[in-house]
Amino acid sequence: MAVAKKYKILFVTSEVVPFVKTGGLADVSSSLPQKLQELGHHVRIVVPKYGAIDERRFKIHEVVRLKDLTTQIGKKEVTYSLRSSFLVGSKARVQLYFLNNDEYFGKRRSLYSDPISGKNYADNDERFILLAKSVFELIEKLGWVPDIIHANDWQGGMIPIFLKEFYKDKPKFQNIKTVFTIHNLGLKGEFPKSTFAKTGLPEKYNNEKGILHNGKVSFLKTGIQYADAVTTVSETYAKEICKIKELSDGLLDVLKSKKNNLHGIVNGIDMNVWNPEKDKQIAKKFTIKSLDGKIENKKVLLEKFGLEYDENKPVISMISKLNDNKGFDLVKKAFKDLMSLDAQFILLGTGEKKYLNFFDKAVAKYPKKFACYLGFDDQLAHLIEAGSDMFLMPSKYEPCGLNQMYSLVYGTIPIVRETGGLADTVVPVDLKNGTGNGFVFKKYEPSELLDTVKKAIELYKSDKKLWLKLMKTGMKSNFTWLNSSKVYVSLYKKLI
Ligand code: GLC
Repeated sequence: MAVAKKYKILFVTSEVVPFVKTGGLADVSSSLPQKLQELGHHVRIVVPKYGAIDERRFKIHEVVRLKDLTTQIGKKEVTYSLRSSFLVGSKARVQLYFLNNDEYFGKRRSLYSDPISGKNYADNDERFILLAKSVFELIEKLGWVPDIIHANDWQGGMIPIFLKEFYKDKPKFQNIKTVFTIHNLGLKGEFPKSTFAKTGLPEKYNNEKGILHNGKVSFLKTGIQYADAVTTVSETYAKEICKIKELSDGLLDVLKSKKNNLHGIVNGIDMNVWNPEKDKQIAKKFTIKSLDGKIENKKVLLEKFGLEYDENKPVISMISKLNDNKGFDLVKKAFKDLMSLDAQFILLGTGEKKYLNFFDKAVAKYPKKFACYLGFDDQLAHLIEAGSDMFLMPSKYEPCGLNQMYSLVYGTIPIVRETGGLADTVVPVDLKNGTGNGFVFKKYEPSELLDTVKKAIELYKSDKKLWLKLMKTGMKSNFTWLNSSKVYVSLYKKLI
């Protein structure tokens, strides 16, 4: 009998739960490596050690061989080390290497931008060039040679080209293939031309055919262009970005040229973490058979936010980065009308200043209807999923989206716009035969958002039986990583 080959995969990411998270990338960077490891593959992860990561709590320790490493970034000589720890899941234990350098990472609590000014750190180019370089040094020093380096988002964008350019003649590196996953095309990692010199790449790449895009060095474009395979996190999004100018965010030509090697692989969710039956972070665990537990969560949630519990009033929540891409311009435009509906609204998230100010004021204006926590809090996110009746995701575009899936398995009905991964995971309710699992609108218009929310509230109030059926349909969904991780494995296999 043929034994399926096991691969060595080095997964490079800029965030991973439970260590550090600003968005869905962190969830994927934790659950996909674990699932691959469960399938018998050998996965290791590289991630920067930001100041926000608690070294003691996570037992991050020094590795003698990986101390006092040096590299050149432009004219700067940079010293760094790689420290080690483990990602401990229920079944798998995945080794992590933390890129440790105080100046670039350790002294900053925030990941990509200054929390006070809101501006991106001016040396983000150097920080993530260092991440790319550290990956090869790690391989060299450990002698652990992966079959695949799987890099994610613009922060990992320089890895494929560094491999091709700096390591092509080194025997150890010759069989390594690269996969580059786009989780967010909106963030490109663009820097002035002067960044080129810092990469150390030969002059032949210093143009639009190389690593420049519209006159800037683009880490994202570089990743897409030089990786052996490119993936993104849902099938619909993969199609949209090769076709729709607005969604391709200025990269239409590059993406089109990669079309045959651009794969849409939908994310799964980690059912050990996001599961109302096991969730230790919520007020009361519940299942399809004990939905009373969900009501308990609703009460605790409302109390936490200082809102009054009313059985007949649905709680509609959002957990999101606060920016235009996630549809907050629509929410803002429709806000007054939303506040006139017979429902309560809860928001958790942080992001652009204009939205932080707007929602801050909204709390004072609508104290009985609207409450928010403008920051990030994982435990609260779990309680919100457990205690809400509906979940709103009116994204302008959405590569995959995880919260709509979390919502479904927590019996919280999603209201989403039909785009990207939302289109792939939420099926519109058919009121006649009771099929579907959520509410979906097409046009990116405040009126469409409003009408759809109204429709959902109407059903919640008028047809408890159908509502319950919807909840149960969602709770039975199967979003485990098993299928998608197997698709990644067959992609790795094709490359190797
Ligand atoms: C990004 C995308 C989101 C996706 C997540 C994980 O945050 O915006 O749609 O679910 O990455 O891939």
